Amino acid sequence: MVPSRLEVMQYVEKFVAEKLPVFLRNPELNWQPSDYTPDLSTDEGFEALRELREEASRLPEDALIILVGDMITEEALPSYASWISTLEGVGATGEPQTAWGAWNRAWCGEENRHGDLLNRWLYLSGRVNMREVEVTVQNLIADGGDTQSENDPYRTFIYTSFQEVATRISHLNVGKLARTVGAEKLYNLSAKIAGDEHRHARAYKYFISKILEVDTNETLLAFQDMMKKKITMPAMYMRERGEQVGDTFKKFEEVAKRSGVYTGWDYVEIVEQLLAEWDVEHLTDLSPAAAKAQDYLCRLPGRYRTLLERVQSRQPRKSSTDVEPIAFSWLYPHEVTTSNAL
Ligand SMILES: [Fe+2]
Ligand SMILES: [Fe+2]
Repeated sequence: MVPSRLEVMQYVEKFVAEKLPVFLRNPELNWQPSDYTPDLSTDEGFEALRELREEASRLPEDALIILVGDMITEEALPSYASWISTLEGVGATGEPQTAWGAWNRAWCGEENRHGDLLNRWLYLSGRVNMREVEVTVQNLIADGGDTQSENDPYRTFIYTSFQEVATRISHLNVGKLARTVGAEKLYNLSAKIAGDEHRHARAYKYFISKILEVDTNETLLAFQDMMKKKITMPAMYMRERGEQVGDTFKKFEEVAKRSGVYTGWDYVEIVEQLLAEWDVEHLTDLSPAAAKAQDYLCRLPGRYRTLLERVQSRQPRKSSTDVEPIAFSWLYPHEVTTSNAL
């Protein structure tokens, strides 16, 4: 007999409870945005601010756009929190005293710092039109998004497993771009955020591995379904003032691709990573439909690679200073100099 989603999620919950101390950090001991931004109550803080602005002044425009886009994505946290709390067996029935509820709240708490830190850094950098960025954040929260995972915990945690790895890649690569212009402090904070995303990815991958143990067929079907729909980023509805839903995201995606921060190759590598993590290839005793899904999933990376190779030869990651700028209202139309700003 096929167990219901509710039964499975209640069963998996005890493993989640055991692992919470591994997958989450005590906020009183964990890093905070203040650790990576100047303390303006001190003279040293003003010196640190000058250094931050000097680092920011060296960043190529594309890196700045990606930082803003990543920050906006993080700032739409209210949508993600409410989404997780609607999942069968995780949300309404998982609040407030269950491990699922504890996970959701604490995960959101950790994510909240990412937006805070990037927002503060960008504000202090003086290179960003914060009001326009804030309008985009408000638009995104109001518009929501569609992860295509419905209220299904299987589809959703496959999505979040993928997504946490994708955000890790993005934060890490924008940090590497910063490093190429000697913005070492920005690299450090990007790597710190990426570290959180890595830990979150481990958690979501673990949740799916436990679900797989007791409901292998349905999990494979859910995985296949998400791969057929393709994973879209949570900020796919991003739009600047006066634009249509998704317009800004299309531009942002292009900048991420051309600067090598997140490309089709990353997408296929994440799919491969998930297949390996859940050992999809070696799952046995499957229903005919699940066996077909297994076959589809295992062939998917090869198909993507062939497609990507056909479209482009793999370029080394580099910052793009010689490409046409794509206009964003987030940046001032002129270059802001920061050397005499303080
Ligand atoms: Fe995050
Ligand atoms: Fe995360």
